[in-house]
Amino acid sequence: MGKQIWKPGNMLYPLPAVMVSTADKNGSANILTVAWTGTVCTNPAMVYISVRPERYSYHMIQESGEFVINLTTGEQVRATDICGVRSGKDIDKWKECGFTRGRASSLQYAPIIAESPVNIECKVKSVQELGSHHMFLAEVTAVQVDEKYMDETGKFELNKTGLLVYSHGEYLGLGEKLGTFGYSVRKKSVRAIGRSKGGSGSLGKRSGAKTGKAGR
Ligand SMILES: Cc1cc2nc3c(=O)[nH]c(=O)nc-3n(C[C@H](O)[C@H](O)[C@H](O)COP(=O)(O)O)c2cc1C
Repeated sequence: MGKQIWKPGNMLYPLPAVMVSTADKNGSANILTVAWTGTVCTNPAMVYISVRPERYSYHMIQESGEFVINLTTGEQVRATDICGVRSGKDIDKWKECGFTRGRASSLQYAPIIAESPVNIECKVKSVQELGSHHMFLAEVTAVQVDEKYMDETGKFELNKTGLLVYSHGEYLGLGEKLGTFGYSVRKKSVRAIGRSKGGSGSLGKRSGAKTGKAGR
């Protein structure tokens, strides 16, 4: 069996399916679902969203220069789809999805979706007219996270929020944990070596291997 060669197209999956909330300068706010999104810089924290100019939301993002990327969960899959197939020029998606407008801490116009576990507040830096989509390159000005996902040590358990993934036309949940950043080069603890050799492993002490965070 060989490979098929396809014409150029979008096959970079999986992607997050996020709900982007935005508003014009009169305070009229809307939500649209976006999959063409990503992180482009760690410091300053920068992201992009690519939006077709014919979307109702487009003029709001252009006018206010503000939007919020609201991460979505499996529980919000229907709302995520609705915000991606219905237009704000026809319906009030806040009402339709039962969402609450919350205050962004760093923006003047765009609201957050209060029900989302993570709200990434963004200010547009530049717009690149690529073709079918225009890319809004934006700086992250604040991030809000829902305290209900904090564990007892204060760690935000993002992967326990039930994040939603979009892949090749389908919505999926996250699968099981397969590793952690840098785990392949991290030294095994004495306890783990002991266990793998059938020993008691009672001398367990974690190695000082780095978490690898700096690489991101
Ligand atoms: C899963 C999914 C992903 C989408 N991704 C994008 C996207 O990245 N860019 C875009 O312009 N539209 C995207 N859309 C389509 C818009 O969300 C859709 O046209 C929406 O109705 C626009 O809303 P509005 O007219 O209220 O702005 C996506 C739709 C779905 C369902």
